Amino acid sequence: MEILQRRSTTAQVWGAAEEFIRLFHRETPGAGDPRTRLAAVRAELAESGTYRHTPQELVHGARVAWRNSNRCIGRLYWNSLRVRDRRGLTDSDAIAAECFEHLREATNGGRVRPTITVFAPDTPQSPGPLIWSEQLVRYAGYGDHHSVTVGDARNAPLTEALLRLGWSGGAGTPFDLLPLVVQGVDDKPRWFETPADAVLEVPIRHPDGDGGGDGWADWGLRWHAVPAISNMCLEIGGIHYPAAPFNGWYMGTEIGARNLADADRYNLLPAVGRRLGLDTSSDRSLWKDRALVELNRAVLHSFDRAEVTIADHHTESRRFLTHLEREERRGRDVGADWSWIVPPISGSATPVFHRTYEDRQVSPAYVHHPGAQDRAQGRDLV
Ligand code: ARG
Repeated sequence: MEILQRRSTTAQVWGAAEEFIRLFHRETPGAGDPRTRLAAVRAELAESGTYRHTPQELVHGARVAWRNSNRCIGRLYWNSLRVRDRRGLTDSDAIAAECFEHLREATNGGRVRPTITVFAPDTPQSPGPLIWSEQLVRYAGYGDHHSVTVGDARNAPLTEALLRLGWSGGAGTPFDLLPLVVQGVDDKPRWFETPADAVLEVPIRHPDGDGGGDGWADWGLRWHAVPAISNMCLEIGGIHYPAAPFNGWYMGTEIGARNLADADRYNLLPAVGRRLGLDTSSDRSLWKDRALVELNRAVLHSFDRAEVTIADHHTESRRFLTHLEREERRGRDVGADWSWIVPPISGSATPVFHRTYEDRQVSPAYVHHPGAQDRAQGRDLV
């Protein structure tokens, strides 16, 4: 079924609602005949222009939205997503507090649990709340194109906007936690300092020499345990939940081959290459490739050592193929975007590389808000 835009007509919402209610009843043992529920939804829509999902519908809708995420390689466990129903919350301070609680519960002392918290939906009376930050945990980036950036260059615009707004800044390390930016219903965006106890971080060491030689300990590299996307919209049966932060666990390459390695992020390959004593003067020494592998070994080793959940790209690729088989047996098509599914290193050494996928987008879904990128960069934050 198709993904509905925010602010659709009642007729369009009804079409999407009907499809979703039928899907829910088809896939939920014991849910029974959908007719009674369809009649109730229809009446509620006619009366108010919207309808409320039952708690069970919300849980299944959020899980199926994960199942339908074509860019995600980690979908084997879609049916175990924990859903925190916070649809009653519309104010920024209550939402921020629940986001931090989400992090504590999802972190679970290192045994990371895939979790979503769902805040108030759009209604005909008012759009729902919004989280401007792209993830619940983000590191500050100080400086801009004209000066050397300390921290995550991706977040330099947001960092600057927050400083303008009165945030006093962190300690100035490469890994200062940024405040969370939340816009409640009928409210301007506001920022909330991230409590340190809500964020588990892993110091990055290299396995060769860890405990003995240098192991990179002196370097002070670290990363946070939980990737929690917070600026996408959850759409279920024509209802939009604009604030619905969700997390899974990390796959090592996200940190080792992208966040710490990309030239416009932490750009660590040259420094890693030098530490490893590689010849960085010529592309043909493959120093970048070797640095990438060692950085990724360090990430996996460090999370393992800290007993924090992380997947490697070989295992996660195999799990994805299991997911495809399992879904096929249930008679369901799996959409996927090859360019996102294939890991950023050693792609051809994983089984997900050697095949093609349909990239058809269906609902329920997590969709990008228009303008999300601008907001994540703090544009118009005054
Ligand atoms: N790639 C993003 C990051 O490095 C996180 C995206 C979601 N990842 C996940 N494993 N659920 O922070």
